[in-house]
Amino acid sequence: MIRKNLATVFVLLSVALSVTANPPAIIASNAQSQPIISKQGMVVAQDAIAAKVGAKILAQGGNAIDAAVATGFALAVTLPQAGNIGGGGFMMVYLADKDKTIAIDYRETAPETAYRDLFLNPDGKVNNSIARFSHRSAGVPGTVAGMVLALENYGTMSLKQVIQPAIELADKGFIVDYPLTESLQDRSERLAQNPASAKYFFNPDGSTLKAGDKWQQKDLAKSLKLIAKHGKEGFYTGTTADKIVAEMKAGDGLITHTDLASYKAVEREAVTGTYNGYEIASMPPPSSGGVHLIQMLNILEAWDLPALGHNSAAYIHRLSETMRRAYADRAEHLGDPDHVPVPTQRLINKDYASYLRDSISLTKATASADYGSTLEDFKESTQTTHYSVWDKQGNVVSNTYTLNFSYGSGISVSGAGFLLNNEMDDFSAKPGSPNGYGLLGNEKNAIAGTKRPLSSMTPTIIFKDGKPVLVTGSPGGSTIITTVLQTVLNHLTFDMNIAQATAQPKFHHQWYPDAIGLEPGFSKDTTAILKSMGHKLSERNRVWGKSQSISAKDDLLFGSTDTRWTGGGAISVESVK
Ligand code: GLY
Repeated sequence: MIRKNLATVFVLLSVALSVTANPPAIIASNAQSQPIISKQGMVVAQDAIAAKVGAKILAQGGNAIDAAVATGFALAVTLPQAGNIGGGGFMMVYLADKDKTIAIDYRETAPETAYRDLFLNPDGKVNNSIARFSHRSAGVPGTVAGMVLALENYGTMSLKQVIQPAIELADKGFIVDYPLTESLQDRSERLAQNPASAKYFFNPDGSTLKAGDKWQQKDLAKSLKLIAKHGKEGFYTGTTADKIVAEMKAGDGLITHTDLASYKAVEREAVTGTYNGYEIASMPPPSSGGVHLIQMLNILEAWDLPALGHNSAAYIHRLSETMRRAYADRAEHLGDPDHVPVPTQRLINKDYASYLRDSISLTKATASADYGSTLEDFKESTQTTHYSVWDKQGNVVSNTYTLNFSYGSGISVSGAGFLLNNEMDDFSAKPGSPNGYGLLGNEKNAIAGTKRPLSSMTPTIIFKDGKPVLVTGSPGGSTIITTVLQTVLNHLTFDMNIAQATAQPKFHHQWYPDAIGLEPGFSKDTTAILKSMGHKLSERNRVWGKSQSISAKDDLLFGSTDTRWTGGGAISVESVK
């Protein structure tokens, strides 16, 4: 079991939440907004230009997978803080004609020569700078392999067709908008430190790109063209691979030609559960997202949550205690299932949920210092981005991918035009030492060659009577799982439309730090009651959730980006025809 000093982890929660969030301080306060409605299909993404690329592919007759791959490549150009070809992620696909759900894992892997103590100084302390901002922070990128696998197995269009819009955006350029300016400014210091990033993310005179400027990314366009021409091999072998390896050699990184050539995206069985008559399908390990979303819904379904009142102190208390227990299990039991045993079925067992529910006092906070994972006691009786796609045949895609922090490590591959991820920090560098999101882990998530670091990404599809009714997911590092949880509860249990569900202020507990993080929008009397119950609070002046969702009802689709942030888009097929 893992314990951690409280003061350190409070600071880390601040770091964790700020690395994924670059927006202005927008006050959420129960924002009400309307979803975009469509009959013919829709793409919802954090960047409207990329969502439009996907919607146009649907309008041209492509299916949801074609549109998802096109959107993924377009985001690599228009949303450089998270969209990527140098990172990795997870894609959930539902095929309507086969009534089949597939989970595609294209998470980065540790280079073969990575080892357990890679980020420890000689004194045994974790070197966070190397773990987060060096060439060694990079895992072997998985995005290109994941997109190609999805398209080859489930798409209908050629790679050339779906990647062409991204090539044009990179080659001819696009007009920088305000959210991109702001996010670039937020990371300008880090990006300026790396010569390739300084060349790619600033004007030639060194000034920051401003809203209204035209931004061309010629080297990225060349890398995308190589993928269009040669498929996966156009990234993992040949010119681009040579550039990645040269970059590693120049910066003492570990990724080799062999690491790149042997990288594989894999299909996994979705983790599934039920919640009050709905069926949930989400991402299994090496993401912790699906397991803990289902575990928390299992704990919560026995309670009459609407009777407590949405975002009342009683509601926040019960959810926070539920989150505390789920994240304690996460730290203890989750890792890459190809390397360590992960007790997925035990963690999502309804009897275990009931055992955990019984351990929750309805009036008093548990101290995390007195609580650790109880799975063994129970005897069985930053920056990430998400987009959702739905086509008119009923196929659905839920995709979350990332560079980890906003702009990853800030290091670009010189000559290839893209940023490297810093996903190696999602490993547990040392048991008991928190990562960039303040998350703890143990040996199960220790660094090892070819292993995938544990993730919180939670791309999810929810069904009623076998038909999809909601597709959702969010960025936000460790807060992803609890953002998705609350979006699901707001929509399914509190009957809010998807735009309202998305725009509500959210809260988060992750066991350590032992504090409830609160987005803006909670009343002072609510926070006073929570304090009187023994909760420590970490009130944030920024929104961290940014879910991108589509719901379905009466043969209509209802889409919503998180309107508390600018730049996103829910783009219907009707609007691009
Ligand atoms: N890099 C954030 C996550 O995968 O959870």
